Amino acid sequence: MRIFLDTANVEEIRNAAKLGVISGVTTNPSLVAREQRADFKDVIKEIASIIDGPISAEVTSLNAKEMISQAREIATWSPNVVIKVPITPAGIEATSVLSKENIKCNLTLCFSPNQALLCALAGAAYISPFVGRLDDISHDGMQLVSDVVAIYKRYDFSTQVIAASIRHPMHCVIAAKAGAHIATVPFKVLMQMINHPLTDIGIDRFMEDWKRLSGK
Ligand code: G3P
Repeated sequence: MRIFLDTANVEEIRNAAKLGVISGVTTNPSLVAREQRADFKDVIKEIASIIDGPISAEVTSLNAKEMISQAREIATWSPNVVIKVPITPAGIEATSVLSKENIKCNLTLCFSPNQALLCALAGAAYISPFVGRLDDISHDGMQLVSDVVAIYKRYDFSTQVIAASIRHPMHCVIAAKAGAHIATVPFKVLMQMINHPLTDIGIDRFMEDWKRLSGK
């Protein structure tokens, strides 16, 4: 399973990129708004200059025709930009048109296997089941990831599953076991994936023993 960073914060992306384990970035209008930067295009171009892999930038129209023209414009910003499209009839229509033009789409706000099936049929490059938001309403978000992975595998769809709305490190473990191609994680969760108290205790002991040996 690959890891994308789910943020529009350039500082976080720069810090995470140094680790060499991030292969893409996902943004959404809320994440971009949080950064309070006026020019969406500049933000996406800056992110695309830091990370080689797919960078998802979301359309903001709800109308198919406008989604298509926004997507065509966003796709010119950088070769690694992927268009994030919400799953509505208009979004699926737009994806069908864009995929035929080889513009990659990441279909977002996925909450059911039927939505995921239709997105794959429309030619989506990626699907983003929102795990945390299903958990929030007492549904099993990760079961959706498993179901979508199984359906795509059964019919050999090339659409990649991005486990999204990841809230904690156990979500990443379960997504990996469920066979998600990618988990997109907030910077905080990335750090939580690295940190372990026993690693810290172990390092402290090694350092103390080393100091004792060298007489410091
Ligand atoms: O990847 C989707 C993500 O940005 C939504 O996360 O925590 O707002 O449900 P959350």
